Amino acid sequence: MYRTHTCGELRAADTNKTVTLAGWVQKVRNLGAMTFIDLRDRYGITQLVVDDNAPETVRQIATELGREYVIQASGRVIERASKNPKMETGEIEIALSALKILNRAQIPPFTIEEHSDGGDDLRMKYRYLDLRRPPLQRALILRHRMAHAVRTFLDREGFLEIETPYLIKSTPEGARDFVVPSRMNPGEFYALPQSPQTLKQLLMVAGYDRYFQIVRCFRDEDLRADRQPEFTQIDCEMSFVEQEDILEIFERWAKFMFEEVLGIRFDAPFRRMPWIEAMEKYGSDKPDLRFGMEFADLTSLAKGHGFSVFDDAEYVTGFAAPGCAVYTRKQIDALTDYVKRPQVGAKGLIWIRVEENGVKSSVDKFFSAEEVRALADRCQTKPGDMVFILSGPKFKTLGQLCALRLKVADELGLRDPKQFAPLWVVDFPMFEWDDETQRYYAMHHPFTSPKPEDIPLLETNPGQVRANAYDFVCNGTEIGGGSIRIHDPKLQAQIFRTLGFTQEKAEEQFGFLINAFRYGAPPHGGLAFGFDRLCSLFGGADSIRDYIAFPKNNAGRDMMLDSPSRIDDAQLEELFLRTVEPEK
Ligand code: AMO
Repeated sequence: MYRTHTCGELRAADTNKTVTLAGWVQKVRNLGAMTFIDLRDRYGITQLVVDDNAPETVRQIATELGREYVIQASGRVIERASKNPKMETGEIEIALSALKILNRAQIPPFTIEEHSDGGDDLRMKYRYLDLRRPPLQRALILRHRMAHAVRTFLDREGFLEIETPYLIKSTPEGARDFVVPSRMNPGEFYALPQSPQTLKQLLMVAGYDRYFQIVRCFRDEDLRADRQPEFTQIDCEMSFVEQEDILEIFERWAKFMFEEVLGIRFDAPFRRMPWIEAMEKYGSDKPDLRFGMEFADLTSLAKGHGFSVFDDAEYVTGFAAPGCAVYTRKQIDALTDYVKRPQVGAKGLIWIRVEENGVKSSVDKFFSAEEVRALADRCQTKPGDMVFILSGPKFKTLGQLCALRLKVADELGLRDPKQFAPLWVVDFPMFEWDDETQRYYAMHHPFTSPKPEDIPLLETNPGQVRANAYDFVCNGTEIGGGSIRIHDPKLQAQIFRTLGFTQEKAEEQFGFLINAFRYGAPPHGGLAFGFDRLCSLFGGADSIRDYIAFPKNNAGRDMMLDSPSRIDDAQLEELFLRTVEPEK
């Protein structure tokens, strides 16, 4: 037997027991007469002590130990003279009577402790060492517990976990596909699923009316802190349901997760916010509701005062930042620089300082004190607030002000990761117009059902059509989204037409689905949650990377495997492929 206990287990009550532990050496402190060894495994750290009473062989082996050696140690549990309340096992230590080196280790490239000195890429290259660190262990343990809770809830509700293939045909989720060449079918490719969207709809046609899957999805898109090229969804679909049924069951699921995993209870129903309200009040379809700072539409008040920045703009909007009237010129300049960065793209920032004895603004030349006061009032200011205003094309400006709102909230410490503000965003537009390609795109995906009352607008004004689509949002992150699907072939054909698909193109891409729908498709709908995002939300982290055992870096590379990489010519030949060097 390699061990009787783990390194996180022993307490004062175990005093005098003879135990054997195995693990990694985190640290060795040699104090002459005594040597202390911190022994680590995934359960914790236990202090081992080698003193004068230890057998000679043990004392000898103790001098040979280095960081990350794998050892087996036996001895008696004794109460520590100086207890360490910060450690779970801090009341005891093990006085060693036997010690064995199971494996030696090279000096690790960074410290493997709660906080590491290694840079991102180095830690990714040696991910198996980074994973030994407690924060990453906690993250993966949390992920496991959450997956377990998901299955418990959905199983109880009668959902069946059904796997779907990874080698499929392109799915229309809006990102680029990763593709896999087929040796047996020269010149042809599989696509890896961006989601199992069409497959779960086929399962509904097949009669499996409550489906779920914790499933890997693949999207070739630009990466960010909350995006990985392969990520995991909790993917769900139900038959004979309306939007209300889906929101009800998954709101209960979300509340179950918060309570089961974090011990947080939500008694009140989650807020539901129409998409247009989210955009106009928060500049985003994933508003962070942990704090206020709602936007006000200032367009009518701002125009017509000879200030061309406002006069020429489609939309003027602003919000009151609480307590920010004390901001110095320098602080305002820093925020102005922030909104002018290419990532945000605003041209400038207008401000109004609201003080006990009046208002002062950067546009006093164009507006009387009463007019400035009216702008501030519309933003519902109190003395001590600062109003920030942007202007320009409506939705672009709202997006820019959203970036500023989040920045200011960060500065004010209003984005506490231990506080949660979940909501549903509903009534999304069905289509998005793209200026570049001069056509509409499905905002969710082409199988999403329009609201029945908006169907007449499909012919006349597609931009106004709202979808039966919904997102689950928390703390400014889109955690999940879904929709009621179209099950009427005629309506589906009409949507394809609006999206600019010819009959042939639609048949070529989605023939299998269109065909299946001819054999009795039940009304159905569903949604998918980003599991990595949900884990990082619950764990209070900014990046989803820490919740994935082996993630990719921002360039989509696996630093540890050194992938992607070239394949040899024989392999290419077998696949009937030739590579083309990119132009310099
Ligand atoms: P959607 O594309 O909105 O919907 O994806 C669902 C959820 O998956 C997460 N997500 C990601 N997480 C990490 N990295 C990524 N690159 C990434 N992309 C998406 C998000 C998102 O909310 N088939 C539909 C669902 C449906 O209609 O049922 C779908 O995939 O949290």
